[in-house]
Amino acid sequence: MDYKSKIRTIPDYPAKGIMFRDVTTLMSDSEALAAAIEDLCRPFERMNVSKVAGIDARGFILGGAMAVRLGAGFLPLRKPGKLPYETWSESYALEYGSDALHMHTDGVEEGEQVLLVDDLIATGGTAEAGVKLLRKGKADIVAAAFLIDLPDLGGARTLRELGVEVMSLVT
Ligand code: PRP
Ligand code: ADE
Ligand code: MG
Repeated sequence: MDYKSKIRTIPDYPAKGIMFRDVTTLMSDSEALAAAIEDLCRPFERMNVSKVAGIDARGFILGGAMAVRLGAGFLPLRKPGKLPYETWSESYALEYGSDALHMHTDGVEEGEQVLLVDDLIATGGTAEAGVKLLRKGKADIVAAAFLIDLPDLGGARTLRELGVEVMSLVT
């Protein structure tokens, strides 16, 4: 599947100088969406993934479908003020601002095999926060999977330096 041709680019959104990769155009295409879920899951089919950790918000779209496809549960890593139970949190910087992610403290069990999922990795700040949260819960991170890697921003390299395997469908 030619995923690149399905992704729309919006210059100067949400700030001047950002080339925003808009995945809504890919996700609205039924064949491209199904193919992306299949391709993202394929390397992990026989890896006994027990949970997919999806990152709020775009990572939920892929992560929920991937969890069903892999026969795994789903763990939401959420923006502040959204999770009702006790949480751990990690702050991070983005290409265009800063934010934080929260995870329920009982979200994973020690040694649980978890696949981290988001639509895109840029600086890696968001995914790194996800890795830190999962490691606080003593999860075993199988890999981190993304539809898009923006390699110039170095996020995938940062995750690999943290000892996390990284895969993506488009660079
Ligand atoms: C976007 C994207 C990734 C993150 C990647 O999320 O969905 O989660 O930025 O950037 P990074 O690698 O530099 O951290 P964003 O928080 O902008 O919005 P969303 O809530 O729509 O997912
Ligand atoms: N998140 C961080 N950088 C992004 C970009 N260039 N396009 C879409 N989402 C992003
Ligand atoms: Mg996001």
